[in-house]
Amino acid sequence: MNDQTGKLRLGVNIDHVATVRNARGSAYPDPVRAAKLAEKAGADGITAHLREDRRHIRDDDIDRLVAELSAPLNFECAATDEMKAIALRHKPHAVCLVPEKREELTTEGGLEVAGQDKRLADYIAPLRNAGCRVSLFIAPDPDQINASARVGAAVIELHTGAYCDLHAEGRFDERDAELARLREGAALAHSLGLEVHAGHGLTYDTVAPIAAMPEVMELNIGHFLIGEAIFRGLPDAIAEMRRLMDDARG
Ligand code: PXP
Repeated sequence: MNDQTGKLRLGVNIDHVATVRNARGSAYPDPVRAAKLAEKAGADGITAHLREDRRHIRDDDIDRLVAELSAPLNFECAATDEMKAIALRHKPHAVCLVPEKREELTTEGGLEVAGQDKRLADYIAPLRNAGCRVSLFIAPDPDQINASARVGAAVIELHTGAYCDLHAEGRFDERDAELARLREGAALAHSLGLEVHAGHGLTYDTVAPIAAMPEVMELNIGHFLIGEAIFRGLPDAIAEMRRLMDDARG
């Protein structure tokens, strides 16, 4: 997902199709089927997070996504040795490193890059040498952005979760302050030569100001789209998100 055409790309995260499957211990709904449908409906890429506890996506889902998808796969994982070995076996288009805590419901904060420069630089190098575009999922904090450039990441993904939460809670002044931080973070990262992505918690109500940021090249959206698909179907849910992104960009 690095065509640099200026078109804002949409990566669809299919984790929560697997959440529903796993709730009943059944073989359905199949996240790979959802990924193929998303691809047909205009997703530019598919994102899947293989968590340490395998609570949604499982190893064989990743095997099948790699084997059966045409769209680029963004493999999201914690920066552990186990995940590095899996990434090096599959060599997905992109590897997005996220912090992971076993108890959390979802990825709560950004990765702490500043302060673990050497560890992350050593972690990233073999992935980069294997041809993966390594992305770091971080808060829009200048220290984290500068550190991301130092450790050799190609991409940062800015965490939009705080902005979306503030919007949902009606705390609009704080939301706008967070948006300003995201804008400044995107500009700083771009000036350092990092490609800028964004995601987490985005909905039809919150996507436009993020999509309008000129440095942002890709959005990764999952939970809302999978939920919305219950009511309108996945292709229609994706098409509406695409339309809102394009309008905001326009
Ligand atoms: N980007 C990253 C790095 C994530 O960890 C997640 C959640 O798995 C997302 C994007 C998508 O967030 P959501 O499911 O809230 O749209």
